Amino acid sequence: MPDGGGDPQTDVTLAWELLYRLEPELYERMASAEKLHRSVIGWLPGAADRIVEVGAGTGRLTLELIKRGREVVAIEPAAGLRQILERNLSRADHGYRAHVTAGFFDDLPVASDSADLVVACSVLTPAPGHGGDPGLAEMERVCRPGGCVAVIWPNNLGWLAARGYEYVTFPGPMSVEFASHCEAVEMAEIFYPGAVAEVRRHGSRRVPYPLLGINPPRDLAFKVMAR
Ligand SMILES: C[S@@+](CC[C@H](N)C(=O)[O-])C[C@H]1O[C@@H](n2cnc3c(N)ncnc32)[C@H](O)[C@@H]1O
Repeated sequence: MPDGGGDPQTDVTLAWELLYRLEPELYERMASAEKLHRSVIGWLPGAADRIVEVGAGTGRLTLELIKRGREVVAIEPAAGLRQILERNLSRADHGYRAHVTAGFFDDLPVASDSADLVVACSVLTPAPGHGGDPGLAEMERVCRPGGCVAVIWPNNLGWLAARGYEYVTFPGPMSVEFASHCEAVEMAEIFYPGAVAEVRRHGSRRVPYPLLGINPPRDLAFKVMAR
């Protein structure tokens, strides 16, 4: 793990950023097992002219958005993840248009008031490097009046509530769905070393989120922009 100057949170953030750039296929193996709650997908508008997604990664959400938007702009800063995203999109033929482009929260390459839905999943945090207030302001700039800004799998509800975001969460047990038990153990060894023994004991390719010590992707915060 890289040295972030003694701050464990900085170390973790740096480690993820390095993973996105140096081992994008490994990230894809982990992310594709962490499926979003079906009701989170179901909550999103069913038909939008234009959807903008920030920090699209390898497309966990983008692959759902292309079924809902006539046009989807997927913004992702890490080149390796963009390549996998393009590959995943090319395999999913829905006849919708998706544009994959480089960009960061602080300067989204999209015109103002141009999207019906602006969404970020497991990306935005109050930290300036991961959006923060400038990033949220950019998402709102891009969203048209009456459109919706949605932060899926949010990590700081108080910060979003203070900025006028409402919260929705969906119930039910959720598991990380690895391809096999062997894959579950291997991924735990890399990403959740403290949970390896439990994952082995559990003996299934489906690993409940609490066993890994993470909150499941079952929630979102949203704001409808004033007309
Ligand atoms: C945990 S991944 C989530 C990816 C995807 N949204 C998903 O749910 O599978 C975080 C993503 O945010 C991107 N990211 C990190 N900092 C960013 C920034 N400042 N602006 C835009 N994207 C950023 C990373 O490159 C990575 O793709």
